[in-house]
Amino acid sequence: MHKNGLQVAIDGPASAGKSTVAKLVAKQFDYIYVDTGAMYRAITYKTIKSGISLDNEAAISEIVKSTEISFSPSENGQLVFIDGEDITEAIRQEDVTNSVSAVAAISTVREELSADQQRIAANGAVVMDGRDIGSTVLPNAEVKIFLIASVEERAQRRYKENIEKGINTPLDELQLEIEARDYKDSHRKISPLTKAEDAVEIDTTSLSIEEVVEKIASVIKDQLNSN
Ligand code: DC
Repeated sequence: MHKNGLQVAIDGPASAGKSTVAKLVAKQFDYIYVDTGAMYRAITYKTIKSGISLDNEAAISEIVKSTEISFSPSENGQLVFIDGEDITEAIRQEDVTNSVSAVAAISTVREELSADQQRIAANGAVVMDGRDIGSTVLPNAEVKIFLIASVEERAQRRYKENIEKGINTPLDELQLEIEARDYKDSHRKISPLTKAEDAVEIDTTSLSIEEVVEKIASVIKDQLNSN
């Protein structure tokens, strides 16, 4: 076991509910929560804002090396900052969502962000969600969860979230976007979205958030009791 607690890796495709349950699990065990997707989104945001083309790997590599991403807890959830600027809302906008897979496929971006993620998780007591955490970033994580849900259910969830934010993208368009992102995230050359061999797969399609959290908590408790 790591010094302060377990490393818990939660991976899965877009909109499978990872961040919602990961946050709750982290709270329950008093662990740090790290949303690695937010880190890829932050670099994508800065790329777009700087007017850099998504295929300009050299310029994007410079951005990732010279940018500081930080998280800060708040009453409304975790805030995300890039070089001190609060980008919590901006990184959830459609322009970032639809460009992030291209940025996440660049090797230097993955190397830099994975190294940051490993540093953050070094002492354990961390719940980290993403696509390659159990398979690549934290291959020795004591708990690995792979969350899945049908694409229809994931599109519905995103539709509801969007409506709450005042975004009105049609459901069928969201489903196509999710399918496109799944494809790009699973087919990229470097650490694609994959289920680690030793991960516990949970299908969240017909489960409530509480039920998913309970299942993950019970895997963590079993692991803590076995140490
Ligand atoms: O979880 P999310 O939708 O916020 O992630 C945004 C994108 O970042 C996702 O399409 C793929 C990428 N990503 C990744 O490649 N590796 C991770 N560990 C986390 C996210």
